[in-house]
Amino acid sequence: MASTQDVLDRIDRNREQHLDELREYLRIPSISTDPEYEGEVMAAAEFLRGKMDDAGLDTELVASPTGGYPMVYGEWTGAPGKPTVLFYGHYDVQPVDPLDEWRNDPFEPTLEGDDLVARGATDDKGQSFTHVKAVAEVLAERGELPFNVKFLVEGEEESGGESIEAYVRQDGGDKLACDCVVVSDTSMYAPGQPAMLYGLKGLVYMEIRVQGPNRDLHSGTYGGAVRNPANALAHILAALRDPDTGRVQIPGFYDAVEPLEEWERDAFGALPFDEDGYRDDLDVPALHGEEGYSTRERTWARPTLDVNGIWGGYQGAGAKTVLPAKAGAKVSMRLVPNQDPQDVARRFTEYVHQVAPSGVRVEVETVHHAVPTRIPTEGEAMTAATDAMEAEWGNEPVMIREGGSIPIVATFADVLSVPVLMMGFGLPDDRLHSPNEKFNVQNYHGGIRTVARFLDRLAAS
Ligand code: BES
Ligand code: MN
Ligand code: MN
Repeated sequence: MASTQDVLDRIDRNREQHLDELREYLRIPSISTDPEYEGEVMAAAEFLRGKMDDAGLDTELVASPTGGYPMVYGEWTGAPGKPTVLFYGHYDVQPVDPLDEWRNDPFEPTLEGDDLVARGATDDKGQSFTHVKAVAEVLAERGELPFNVKFLVEGEEESGGESIEAYVRQDGGDKLACDCVVVSDTSMYAPGQPAMLYGLKGLVYMEIRVQGPNRDLHSGTYGGAVRNPANALAHILAALRDPDTGRVQIPGFYDAVEPLEEWERDAFGALPFDEDGYRDDLDVPALHGEEGYSTRERTWARPTLDVNGIWGGYQGAGAKTVLPAKAGAKVSMRLVPNQDPQDVARRFTEYVHQVAPSGVRVEVETVHHAVPTRIPTEGEAMTAATDAMEAEWGNEPVMIREGGSIPIVATFADVLSVPVLMMGFGLPDDRLHSPNEKFNVQNYHGGIRTVARFLDRLAAS
């Protein structure tokens, strides 16, 4: 049978082809949060399914149980009795605004040096396509796989992931039964320094709406007699965090928080990190966060609260003396193990009502949430993954956590009871969710090779 090296050689030979296929995939604007793009999101699902068909998988578009976008499912189960790997990814992408900050059309992938620039390049079309290409090449070289594979790629990760959540809870147990899940939707630690992620934050996303008078008013005629909803909103938002210590002021918010372990503080502290460079890159006068914690600890392992959007009153040019009828804000909290999103949402809601001034009506809604995760840092699958990473990149991967969320990861761990390996091939400066998102083509290529190596190592273990 063809060796791992034969497979890697084939991957090298077909490098340009892999890149062309990714370009084609990236041209489809699959923005799941915006209903205008419904046709395109569906087109991306069809495209991916086609690529899985070409790879030799049995495929299916799994209809959403909640009326949302389908999941692309593929499997090769020609090795009965052998273990099964489930690959997860998402084919949807974030919106592109602000469009004028892109150097090129976000959906016309452009090569800038070694970087392929396009929306979705790294998050997550490019990264999850490495799974498809790796399996395709192993099958092409050998006609079979060392064991079974399943793919489940969703189209709503960037907009809450309701469909896959319902699907995995309903049918997942049988249909998705596997020995480990592989996710490539995160980053390496630095160029040439791979990482395995063992923790993701959870999330609760809230919307606050403050209603004042039944219409916009003259701010001279009525000002002083009526509570201004924008002022009221500012008061509420200001009460959420202590401006000096950065602590969230919601009673009980920290109750369930799993404290950082001593070894983690040491391990995070031992990673190379240029704090001044980080600050300068963001062009802020100073970094700010929860007192008593380092930047890494804050972003990876401490819960946070941020206003994501805020509106109310006049936003146009010049001045308009108006007392607005309403104001609102979107606020999200990133959670760490063992915080419970529903519990945090309830505490948030109660607190907002408690600090809300009189004279306005305040509504609070939970938009979506995700459960935080932490996975074991050891085990056979983890060893196969770290070995594959090390063999490909020449460096042993570091174990890190992240501030981002991938909602379905906690559900996989819960329903399937198997390790979820977060093997990322992106780079920290890939600008995911920002203008000019990119994926380094070496990382794309190396990612395909890493997945192929991983399959062989796992089979051998
Ligand atoms: N791939 C990201 C999550 C991520 C980002 C992990 C950076 C590790 C490092 C994912 O696509 C994402 O953006 N998730 C959303 C989830 C939300 C919409 C529920 C997030 O974290 O904001
Ligand atoms: Mn992603
Ligand atoms: Mn994302």
